Amino acid sequence: MRKHSAMIMAVVAALLAGMAVSCAPEIPDSPEFESQSPRISSSETQGSTSSALPSFEFVAEVTPPELRNYDPTGEVIFPSVVRAGDMFASPLAEWYLYYAPHDNPGGISLMYADALEGPWTPFVNNPIVTNEWDEHYEVSHVSSADVVWNDADQLAYMYFHGENSTMRWATSSDGVSWDYGGVAFHAGDIDGPGAPSTESSYGRVFVNPNPDADEDAAWAMLFMDNTEANERRIRLAHSADGKSWTVHDEPLLTATGEEGLNLSSADLWIVDDRHYIVYHSALGVISARETDASMTSIGEPEILYAPSEEGVDVDRAAAPEIVEFDGKLYLFYEVGDRHDSTIALAVAEVR
Ligand SMILES: *[C@@H]1O[C@H](CO)[C@@H](O)[C@H](O)[C@H]1NC(C)=O
Ligand SMILES: *[C@@H]1O[C@H](CO)[C@@H](O)[C@H](O)[C@H]1NC(C)=O
Repeated sequence: MRKHSAMIMAVVAALLAGMAVSCAPEIPDSPEFESQSPRISSSETQGSTSSALPSFEFVAEVTPPELRNYDPTGEVIFPSVVRAGDMFASPLAEWYLYYAPHDNPGGISLMYADALEGPWTPFVNNPIVTNEWDEHYEVSHVSSADVVWNDADQLAYMYFHGENSTMRWATSSDGVSWDYGGVAFHAGDIDGPGAPSTESSYGRVFVNPNPDADEDAAWAMLFMDNTEANERRIRLAHSADGKSWTVHDEPLLTATGEEGLNLSSADLWIVDDRHYIVYHSALGVISARETDASMTSIGEPEILYAPSEEGVDVDRAAAPEIVEFDGKLYLFYEVGDRHDSTIALAVAEVR
């Protein structure tokens, strides 16, 4: 009897397995967004990539739970790394790394290290920016901070979201204590196809590399917007001073082919005089599209990094932040399931 039912179970299991295979959708739904194994492995990437993209090797997790002295949700996202030694008078260390939980209540945290490989030390009073700021705002969460040096003001600027529909900024002379600046823009104010946008978040800010840009486009920001149809695109905004921003009416990148419908966390990366927009998509990998200094020509997506399947480096790689230093490229990124993500480091040689 027992043997009999075991056999039936085995048959049922085999049938289910067969069904699962034949019903498996071509493109799994939900990305960033939700946990998903990368569909393309590093080895395939290396085999199929003919371009000049470097190959990054996974080094280590940067924000293991024991180094998080503020960890309300068990997940952290969106690394932003700056050379504090070049920016501030008496920094805690040479390099600062900002990161945050994504789920409520969020909260921007800081780690510092004298070398990009670490060891990293959590700042004693994390978080440094929270979901309530005096009379300025009270929101469900703040997250996805990007920190840049503003030479004209001799101050660091931080861009972050809270709520998902509001891009804000703050300034600091030491990278630790911040003064509230204001709202860069609201999703609802963005024009163009799919307007009104429902989210505007995950911004990365940089000096506009276009030598022909006019003064009111001295700064550029790449960020994600979302539409009522739940399509996440990469948008471009420009600013004269880093404070007030104009968002371009046309989305800069939309998902193509297997990328699904969701793109997020884009940055401009310049290497060997070539310009790339690096970002992540529903594929669970970090992609790159070649562009030019004015970000007008946009190439086809290529895979820059897929999780190595070593240690924490599984499921999905996202939110790239690449630092070139001392002959090496340091890729800080978000890795793992959306509800369990951490920050990791992969390194490549500069060629
Ligand atoms: C886009 O992201 C949303 C939110 O996680 C998800 O519900 C949706 O399925 C995704 N769409 C695609 C096509 O991947
Ligand atoms: C903010 O966006 C994230 C996806 O990027 C989503 O998981 C979260 O629920 C959103 N929060 C709110 C308050 O809408």
